[in-house]
Amino acid sequence: MSNFDLGPDVISRVRDATDAVEVISEHVRLRRRGRTWEGLCPFHEEKTPSFSVDPEKGLYYCFGCHAGGDVFKFLMERENLSFPEAVEQLARRFGVPLPAAGPEARRRRTENERQQSLLEEAQHWFVEQLMEADGAPARRELERRGFPASSWRDVGFGWAPDDWRQLLEHLRRRHPEGVLVKAGLAIQPDAGKPPYDRFRNRLMFPIRARDGRLVAFGGRILGDGEPKYLNSPEGDLFHKRSTLFNLDRARREVASKGKVIVVEGYFDCLTLQRVGVGNVVATLGTALTSEHARILRRLLGTDGRVLLCYDADSAGRRAAGVGVGVLLQAGVDVAIIDLQGGKDPDDIVRDKGVDAFMEMAAHPVGILDFLLEDLPPNPADRRRAGLAFSALVCAASDPAIRQNLIEELARRLNLRPREIEAQGREPRRRDAPTASATIQPRPTTAPGERDLARILLLGTPSAGERAVKEIRPELVDDPRVRELLQMAAAGSLGEKLLSWVMTESENEATQTFVAALCLAGLPPVTEDTTRTTLETLGRRQRRDQARALQEAIENASQEGDMERLAQLQMEKIEFRKQGA
Ligand code: UTP
Ligand code: MN
Repeated sequence: MSNFDLGPDVISRVRDATDAVEVISEHVRLRRRGRTWEGLCPFHEEKTPSFSVDPEKGLYYCFGCHAGGDVFKFLMERENLSFPEAVEQLARRFGVPLPAAGPEARRRRTENERQQSLLEEAQHWFVEQLMEADGAPARRELERRGFPASSWRDVGFGWAPDDWRQLLEHLRRRHPEGVLVKAGLAIQPDAGKPPYDRFRNRLMFPIRARDGRLVAFGGRILGDGEPKYLNSPEGDLFHKRSTLFNLDRARREVASKGKVIVVEGYFDCLTLQRVGVGNVVATLGTALTSEHARILRRLLGTDGRVLLCYDADSAGRRAAGVGVGVLLQAGVDVAIIDLQGGKDPDDIVRDKGVDAFMEMAAHPVGILDFLLEDLPPNPADRRRAGLAFSALVCAASDPAIRQNLIEELARRLNLRPREIEAQGREPRRRDAPTASATIQPRPTTAPGERDLARILLLGTPSAGERAVKEIRPELVDDPRVRELLQMAAAGSLGEKLLSWVMTESENEATQTFVAALCLAGLPPVTEDTTRTTLETLGRRQRRDQARALQEAIENASQEGDMERLAQLQMEKIEFRKQGA
């Protein structure tokens, strides 16, 4: 949530002040080519440049993978920012003052800031306790696990003493107990009884959001005890479903490698990071969620891949199965790192060294190898059990991945792809997220409608107004052009329309389409283009309308619906008059 009131006018001020070429150049090496700039697309692997930037409009588009949008979207995709974060970053950078948000937003904001500074204070205190005399067992444990004292600061390791009120007493001087409870540091038993520290006798480590903000703690018990790991509870700052442990440190490497290793355990993550495997994250004692998948997809880019590396036990296998489904549905390619009998990545690195782990990571198992591993040998049973994976495979939202999986599953079960599809289509989830980052076939639009879109976006105001007057949105075939025409009719033309599409339209297809149009290098919109386009489209629309009217008349007369027939014939007369 933003601290500022980011209305449309503010957003366009930021857009105008932003030098898109400068911003995008930090991610892509751009070279000027006429009016636009070109480079190698950061969203897919390529050897010849098909990515271009329009400096005036602040748009980018890749003619190879069809990624496209404005400079805000570029930052959202590349740096994994939210829309407000992208706007705020550019406003700061290009010196645009932002108006403060209203009182409610401000109140929530201060509340969150307060909770966060409280967590920072607690973190500071945990770190101090680790160095106290009675922190010795915690220090020994860290060293036993391969973390020398020099590495503690980097992670932010701390220690929560084996006591009920030490942290409380420490923080109570500056913060009311209620706030400590709300921040998840203290537990309030029944009303009337005093609160006590949530974390006791635990090795503590901070859990940070992807922008590095401290949002929660995790703590591992020293020695045996239950539960082994304890997290802060969910709250205003901490949402397990959308948090990935270590993503703040891993994100750069994840984006640049296009690969991320997802592990189950905190220490799997910490140990791998310690030995130099930087692109690793962990879920927080939950299965991988669709939110996690979306976050990773944005960061990974088009050809990215998730490597799931879960424990070899049955719980781990189950969790990996869930993860595979969630990722496929989100349009992310996924494979499995087989730990070959080792317990978890942390053990493997400590027992056999990082090279042994890297070797396993370099040869991941395909998901069908993984899923079909335990199937019965008898062909009929095998086929029946294998067919159960049809739905999972057919739910993959990336068409290329889906096609490959369907064919491979069919081959292995000795079936035809059609049979897998038939089986898999049944309980199709309607809320399957769309895979915007995947390569899509080039959209086809009738040239007339494409020119109509150009008139609305790039033509003179009078050309745009004429288009609005003469062309009926409901008769436009291409839904993206239809959306543009509807907005234009509501009063947005030219730059205003462009800005509306990029910031307020929820429709990514329209955004990409518009970026493509602006960067397509087509000849400018002249009066001639406008006239011929509108005439051709208008004629076509009238023909379609006449045909539809004629069909309705025939239907009404067949059904003997005289009233309707009369009404339609009046319409027809009216229509003829207009056309003349
Ligand atoms: P494991 O039980 O496999 O532990 O839990 P581990 O990671 O190997 O831990 P060490 O090496 O014995 O210290 C895997 C993950 O499941 C979550 C934690 O995220 C943990 O890292 N978990 C486990 C909990 O949230 N609570 C628990 O009580 C146990
Ligand atoms: Mn472990």
